[in-house]
Amino acid sequence: MAKTKDDKKQEGTKSKIKKENMFIGIDFGTSKIAICTNDGKKVLEQSIVGYPRDVVAKNFLKADVLYGEKALKHRAALNIKRPVENGVIKNDKDNIDAAKGLLEHCLKSIKLPDDSVESYAIIGVPAEASILNKKMISGLSKDLFTGVMVASEPFCVAYGIEELEHAIFVDIGAGTTDLCRVHGTFPEPDDQISLDRGGDYIDQEIIKLITEEYTDANITRELAKKWKETYGYVGSTHDDCIVEIQVGASNLDLPIADEIKAACESIVSGIVAGITKLISTYDPEFRDELKNNIRICGGGSRIKNIDKFIEEELDQIGGGKVSIVSDPVYSGASGALKLAQDMPPGFWKQLH
Ligand SMILES: Nc1ncnc2c1ncn2[C@@H]1O[C@H](COP(=O)(O)OP(=O)(O)OP(=O)(O)O)[C@@H](O)[C@H]1O
Ligand SMILES: [Mg+2]
Repeated sequence: MAKTKDDKKQEGTKSKIKKENMFIGIDFGTSKIAICTNDGKKVLEQSIVGYPRDVVAKNFLKADVLYGEKALKHRAALNIKRPVENGVIKNDKDNIDAAKGLLEHCLKSIKLPDDSVESYAIIGVPAEASILNKKMISGLSKDLFTGVMVASEPFCVAYGIEELEHAIFVDIGAGTTDLCRVHGTFPEPDDQISLDRGGDYIDQEIIKLITEEYTDANITRELAKKWKETYGYVGSTHDDCIVEIQVGASNLDLPIADEIKAACESIVSGIVAGITKLISTYDPEFRDELKNNIRICGGGSRIKNIDKFIEEELDQIGGGKVSIVSDPVYSGASGALKLAQDMPPGFWKQLH
């Protein structure tokens, strides 16, 4: 149908509104915060806030508070806060303030425009975040933007890569693993499952399994995370990995391939059960399409062989095709950005 003058005028106004405004997609995760803006800026920072432990630390660091990588680097002189736990901001004043400070710090580094420009943000939250969590996130960021909305994190990923029909997204984060079934609309509660096992759980398992064998082994959370990110794998093929571990007073070179494998595999049964549930409760006519379109995202998607391993597990209960989304770092934030840009202006007004 040919466009009328009014259609064209409306389109013109729409694009004008979109051009003048600033849109922001935010993935505020347990381990990292990633931000994308409509003018192409990107920020990545660790979800960590550090406060100098004493006057010496404060003078030496020349700051009252450090964020992200800087806080991690100087953690020996700081009281460290991780304001996000299991995908949600901890509900107390100190952590809410820390989370807000961290968000402001990240936004400062991308220089948001002055007050004359309206800014609209969508923030990704875990699939089953409670109403309270959602309110907290939008509450702490409402002074920072003209309009802000929260959306399911794995759904943002799906929206960003335009896979919106008959697909299951599995977002393996640090605090949670979130599953979301997409079928062409915003997801409903039945489409989403949050599991409390993610990368942090694997790190704890690595520590647990190694210390079961070497009681005096001294392994920090950071060390276990580093080993997982370097050697993490699932399934039968693996390279030997030998790491130096402090056991009692000695430093020993120990093989930890079996422990790494067991720890990484410990999150898979929950994921497979979640996928199976989402498939079995779907419209039978589209189940085949759904099970052949399972997409893994989030930092945990980098565990070697995770897609094939989940596929093998699914083979035993009806099959499925699993693949990994490219760019696990920014896919949530860039999907949230795309969603923010695509919301009709009336939506933001109503929200406001
Ligand atoms: N190469 C890798 N191998 C295995 N795990 C990895 C790798 N790279 C990152 N990870 C893990 O992925 C997790 C971080 O993923 P992601 O950035 O998606 O989490 P998040 O969004 O901050 O957390 P959440 O979504 O739970 O709030 C961490 O546990 C990290 O150690
Ligand atoms: Mg995440």
